[in-house]
Amino acid sequence: MIVGKFPNLRPRRLRKNENIRRLVRETRITLDDLIYPIFVRYGENIVEEVPSMPGVYRYSVDKVADAVKEVRDLGIPAVILFGIPEHKDEVGSDTWSEEGIIQQALRKIKSEVPDIYVITDVCFCEYTSHGHCGVLHDHEVDNDLTLENLKKQVVSHAENGADMVAPSGMMDGMVKAIREALDEAGFKHIPIMAYSAKFASAFYGPFRDAAESAPAFGDRRSYQMDPANSREALKEVLMDIEEGADIVMVKPALAYLDIISKVKENVLVPVCAYNVSGEYSLIKAAGRLGWVDEKRVMWETLLSIKRAGADMIITYFAKDVANMINKGEV
Ligand code: PBG
Repeated sequence: MIVGKFPNLRPRRLRKNENIRRLVRETRITLDDLIYPIFVRYGENIVEEVPSMPGVYRYSVDKVADAVKEVRDLGIPAVILFGIPEHKDEVGSDTWSEEGIIQQALRKIKSEVPDIYVITDVCFCEYTSHGHCGVLHDHEVDNDLTLENLKKQVVSHAENGADMVAPSGMMDGMVKAIREALDEAGFKHIPIMAYSAKFASAFYGPFRDAAESAPAFGDRRSYQMDPANSREALKEVLMDIEEGADIVMVKPALAYLDIISKVKENVLVPVCAYNVSGEYSLIKAAGRLGWVDEKRVMWETLLSIKRAGADMIITYFAKDVANMINKGEV
């Protein structure tokens, strides 16, 4: 590739002022890129801040519609729901109960805010007494037994109004099982966003506080991916597409920008990146200490995720970003 050379070329010419910088800017963050995570919990009249995630709240069902309205009014197209049930059990049966926390939240949101796109996180760790992402057998998550329960969970989500389901448990064959279950139940039109390359990451720490989903023993390394692996991430992504994933996800985002970029170059489906809780909390904490400029670091982080190839970003910063965009600060 010939680029030319100095003094004929002076790249600074195209950086002279904001107008020319706008014209040559290659990557943009818009409202269209954003998905906002919402935590719904049992109880009534509750809006409580997550201690390790300033600015992020857990809402009881009676409060969740207002929270979603705020997101909709900011111009954000979608939310993804996480549930904290009142009762946990060995298998996480709240996930397919008609009175489950997500089912209640879906009905509430769909009746009061019908014009926002609602994605449900599909997993078991917040719902099981042991905190693992499926059914245990000899202290191990049993893959195929878990698939059976995943089918019940997604059908129940779809029946209660979910627009899209997002399985995050990293079970082998989960996308195939879910696609078949949805199709059989008459939900052929409901897409699947697969957490395809989900790594066993320490960046999920604050989320596990928020969702009360830390495993009671052991860790998730027998199902989530080894952070050291890149080709395996592509294998997971390609397998999920083969099984019927409409959108694939890389998670976390920031320490995995190379994976996002690699996935984007190798697939034809949209790529989502999850800017996870720990990534959020690090920036919030340093911002509060006055050690970094929180807004600018946030913007630069999201830009890097977009530039790496993400078509959409799940981020706890979505409302902050939307406010900045709407106020013309960026
Ligand atoms: C699993 C799930 C997790 C996150 C999203 N879905 C936690 C985990 O795997 O332990 C983490 C999200 C975040 O850290 O923001 N249901």
